[in-house]
Amino acid sequence: MARRTIYLGLLAIVIPYLYDRYVALSALAANRPSKLKDVYNFRQHEFKFRDSIRNCEDVLLVEEKGLAIVSCDAGRDRWNTVMGTFAQHKGVVGGGLYVYDYATPGLSEQDALARLTLKNIDTEDFHPLGIEYERKSGTLYVVNHAQTGSVIEIFDLDFKTTTATRRQTFRHALAFSPNSIQALGDGKIFFTNDHFIPAAMSPILSKIETFSGVPGGSVVYVDLTRPSETARTLARVPFANGIAMLNSSTLAVASTSKSGIYFFSVTADYHLQSKNHISPPEYHLKSQGYIRTPVAPDNISVDGNGKLLMAGHPFALATMKVSRGRANCDPDSRKEEDRKACDCTAAGWVAEWTPETGLRELYKGYDICTSSTAVRDVGRGIGLVTGLYDRGLMLFKE
Ligand SMILES: *[C@@H]1O[C@H](CO)[C@@H](O)[C@H](O)[C@H]1NC(C)=O
Ligand SMILES: *[C@@H]1O[C@H](CO)[C@@H](O)[C@H](O)[C@H]1NC(C)=O
Repeated sequence: MARRTIYLGLLAIVIPYLYDRYVALSALAANRPSKLKDVYNFRQHEFKFRDSIRNCEDVLLVEEKGLAIVSCDAGRDRWNTVMGTFAQHKGVVGGGLYVYDYATPGLSEQDALARLTLKNIDTEDFHPLGIEYERKSGTLYVVNHAQTGSVIEIFDLDFKTTTATRRQTFRHALAFSPNSIQALGDGKIFFTNDHFIPAAMSPILSKIETFSGVPGGSVVYVDLTRPSETARTLARVPFANGIAMLNSSTLAVASTSKSGIYFFSVTADYHLQSKNHISPPEYHLKSQGYIRTPVAPDNISVDGNGKLLMAGHPFALATMKVSRGRANCDPDSRKEEDRKACDCTAAGWVAEWTPETGLRELYKGYDICTSSTAVRDVGRGIGLVTGLYDRGLMLFKE
């Protein structure tokens, strides 16, 4: 009898877990390549910069200037700390940051895109992932998966001279696998770590962490003007990926392994330290639930109407396959097999969400491969989608 009680108790713990994995994996099966049904919920789409940039992971809009900032890293083919590709012996090129003028009509592709000149940083070992821009101070935050260790770089950005000058590097025990950044102003940021066990530490354990859906990823707060006193883990999320403030009090975090978005209410406590001195804010996150998404989401963004946009991977195994094959990619090689290794064959997906309307798919199909971030300029009715392993950017019009 006692044994059975224990057994039932164990089942009670395990069944919800298995059910959860079952739902996540059956979504995977429903989107397997032969079953995937295209979705186009925008008026038109086209590709930009097919031959000038590739492997772009993040894009953000500075709408008042009609500019997009894009982070791209051709070196990801051989050095991907999230997916676990470490072929550095083959040579890894540095990545770059770009400014795209998407609002001025009639510009040639060449005139519309400028590569930012990076100053005061080792550009050979620069591997940008998530980026974030703080308007008031002109600060650009960039997650850099350098071979010497992952860090967050803090740049002063000058649009006029298209120059970004490194001011500070944040290297910290709590930034063990940094992925995405959300700025709160005045040097305060939230960022995600995607894994507790980065692939650089153990590729196998890192994969087990991904597939089991254990909450190994985290959300960290830091005030970069006083990093050592302020850095703190505020929440744990399985494979925490994109992060974005939905509004002034709600934070959204995408979980790639759980296939969902977690919501948190954000509060800040202030203490009176002495008569005229109030302490810096102490942030707290309180869970406000979770929505499941039909595919594994990657990055998220919030548009001018407050809608949450997400990009993701309908068939995550195909994305992993592309990433695995990439170490041999050489677009200029004479050998067909090396050029073929540059192909990108995994589907892309974009959706929007509001609490009132729920989730609505905007796009699903093979035009953009390994879609990682989607953003939208509501005023101009234009959106951009990046592809982690694709060439160029997809632009859509509504
Ligand atoms: C995802 O997008 C947000 C902007 O919504 C940005 O702050 C973040 O750094 C991005 N992360 C990645 C990994 O692209
Ligand atoms: C922020 O968004 C959440 C989730 O949609 C909502 O419940 C909350 O009321 C919003 N708060 C504000 C201040 O708009």
